[in-house]
Amino acid sequence: MSVNDTTVVILAAGLGTRMRSKRAKVLHRAGGLALVEHVVAAATAVAPAERMIVVTGHQAEEVEAVLQPSGVGFVRQVGQKGTGHALASCRERLQNRDGLVMVLYGDTPLLSPVTLRRLLDFQSAAATAATLITTKIEDPAGYGRVILDGEGYVTAIVEEKAATPQQKSIRLINSGIYCFRASLLWQHIVELQPNAASGELYLTDMAEILVQHGHRVGALYIEDPDELLGINTRVELADADRVLRERKCRELMLAGVTVERPETVTVDANVQVGADTVIEPFARLLGSTVVGEECHVGAGAILESAVLADRVVVAPYTLVANSGIETGAQVGPFARLRMDAQVGQDARVGNFVELKKTTLGKGAKSQHLAYLGDSEIGAGSNIGAGTITCNYDGEQKHRTQIGERAFIGSNATLVAPVEIGAESYVAAGSVITENVPAKTLALGRARQVVKQGWVKKPRKK
Ligand code: UD1
Ligand code: CA
Repeated sequence: MSVNDTTVVILAAGLGTRMRSKRAKVLHRAGGLALVEHVVAAATAVAPAERMIVVTGHQAEEVEAVLQPSGVGFVRQVGQKGTGHALASCRERLQNRDGLVMVLYGDTPLLSPVTLRRLLDFQSAAATAATLITTKIEDPAGYGRVILDGEGYVTAIVEEKAATPQQKSIRLINSGIYCFRASLLWQHIVELQPNAASGELYLTDMAEILVQHGHRVGALYIEDPDELLGINTRVELADADRVLRERKCRELMLAGVTVERPETVTVDANVQVGADTVIEPFARLLGSTVVGEECHVGAGAILESAVLADRVVVAPYTLVANSGIETGAQVGPFARLRMDAQVGQDARVGNFVELKKTTLGKGAKSQHLAYLGDSEIGAGSNIGAGTITCNYDGEQKHRTQIGERAFIGSNATLVAPVEIGAESYVAAGSVITENVPAKTLALGRARQVVKQGWVKKPRKK
């Protein structure tokens, strides 16, 4: 049996009552992705997106929107009447497909591709009607328990609520990961009966149904119970997040990134970091951030969908959002880049400097206390401490254009729209309201007055 005749169905229609949230459980995020996104990612090991169906129901539009880019298909479950009902919703769409059907729950984000591959190989080689993944856990509360016969085949899955005290003492749990022979699944799924207590159709009852029809159901035992964690509460969500963060940092470290105190560092799943980069404690690398080689990300820095070329230094407590930094540039500490700020090669941005929709040319510097918004600053220019671009007139935003190798003195106020020519100077403390031609000096401030003999009496003690 090859990958090409396996269909994956991911159940993601439930409410997730135990999360106590307005948002569907599978949309909650761990490791920087929605729970169900992790499941889809792991499942690509056994089937291409065209052969994956995600069953949606509660907040279906939102769940489908999150998964749209992955290319999976969707089936709506009308009324959330249990996991069996969710899978049965796919019968019409899938009953004519041969091969295997792997069923996953959208709330198990730690699944590894390797394990899904193992399950597929195991079921492919077996004569059984289905295989489920099981493991032993210390505290199995909340999970279905797997009942085995003398030969190790599954005879039934008993849900926690229906379990006798003796069954509750069983520590072998149902992970909720199954691989069925498609023909037998679609033939018999119609036999599921509502659970007496809840009125729901339990997918777990399929084991008993298949056994009653003379088929066998196998159990694949997995050593690492962590991987099978189903998220039902925010406590488990935090557990999953921690595991995913650990895994990501480990992956980066094995690829040549130094991560100091990795337990404090937050790196989202899709972030890329080049070799020989150093990440200091409490840094957060989020979203689609890409960091080049030999960079340095300082303590407490937050990079959100940022793009850093090689040898970039982001000093501690700097925020970079949706912005880029070119090779060799240094930014921070305590700097803020946002909304498509672009820092050129070898440029410098120092403490308490904010760049918004601003391009800082190659080798340009703004080292202290500045707001540079909607601006283009030429290569080699120097922006003095306290420089402010007045880009907003209360109604509209206006641009500031600064040529190459210009020198803006400290505490200059540049009232946009305004252009400062190349190699020109703006005197410290100037308020610049008119364009400054190239290679000129602009002064825009009151001349200093010194009043002789102004102090008549010595100041009282
Ligand atoms: C389920 C299993 C349990 C197993 C555990 C593993 C059943 C009856 N029980 O319990 O044996 O040990 O998972 O984590 O299957 N869903 C739908 N439609 C519905 C109901 C649920 O799509 O009508 C989806 C949910 O979005 C969720 C998944 O199915 O992603 C599992 O549902 P959940 O309610 O969390 O099942 P558990 O009680 O954890
Ligand atoms: Ca669950």
